[in-house]
Amino acid sequence: MSNGPVVTLDGPAGSGKSSTARAVARRLGFRHLDSGALYRALTLALLESGLAEEEWDGLDEDAMRALDVRLAPRPDGFDVIVGGRVVVEELRSAEVTSRVAHLAGLAPSRASLLSLQRAAGAHGRLVADGRDMGTAVFPDADVKVYLVADLDERARRRLRDEGVDEPTSEDLERQSEAIAGRDLADSEREHSPLRMPDDAHLIDTTRLGFEEQVDAIVALVEGLG
Ligand code: CDP
Repeated sequence: MSNGPVVTLDGPAGSGKSSTARAVARRLGFRHLDSGALYRALTLALLESGLAEEEWDGLDEDAMRALDVRLAPRPDGFDVIVGGRVVVEELRSAEVTSRVAHLAGLAPSRASLLSLQRAAGAHGRLVADGRDMGTAVFPDADVKVYLVADLDERARRRLRDEGVDEPTSEDLERQSEAIAGRDLADSEREHSPLRMPDDAHLIDTTRLGFEEQVDAIVALVEGLG
């Protein structure tokens, strides 16, 4: 039996899912699951294994599981563990970011991470963000949100995260291209493509303040009755 709601936040790269999900979870006293971190962790584990990227497509689910990506619960979320160590910054490296959509398009990688994600939500009180949280992983979630924002705004946010507060037009173009490329790969893949769940609330964060979007989602959860 579930002890509380599961809330899903899906959307394209840079739409603000992870930071919003973390803040919503904190406000509600729920755990936050960043499912993208799992795909990034699997990518990191493969890079560390030394296996050439062309070989990744030949791996089956057991081989993906053998990469030994795990989640360890914390009061507010989960540590992601690769090869026995907690990983954080390494997951956001350019090397990982440029390859993660390839890995995430492979059915065995998705299958290998499914039970980890479902186990994280087994007792409810979870805010999960990603690409397929409301469609494939938690189709029965209590509140589903789909976050979008204009590409230009998403590129600006990513650059800000990287410490670039006043981007040049070249910076913006480069970042927009990288994000659009990943969006395309995530939307067009065969397995669990990025799409808005039919029963999701659509929130456009282009012109919303961060606290406003957090408030809007918290209100949806508090309104469950
Ligand atoms: O933070 P950002 O939106 O850039 O990416 P992320 O949430 O860390 O996810 C990284 C990549 O993992 C995405 O581009 C997807 O290819 C993949 N992913 C996925 O396929 N399914 C999920 N539920 C979460 C992430």
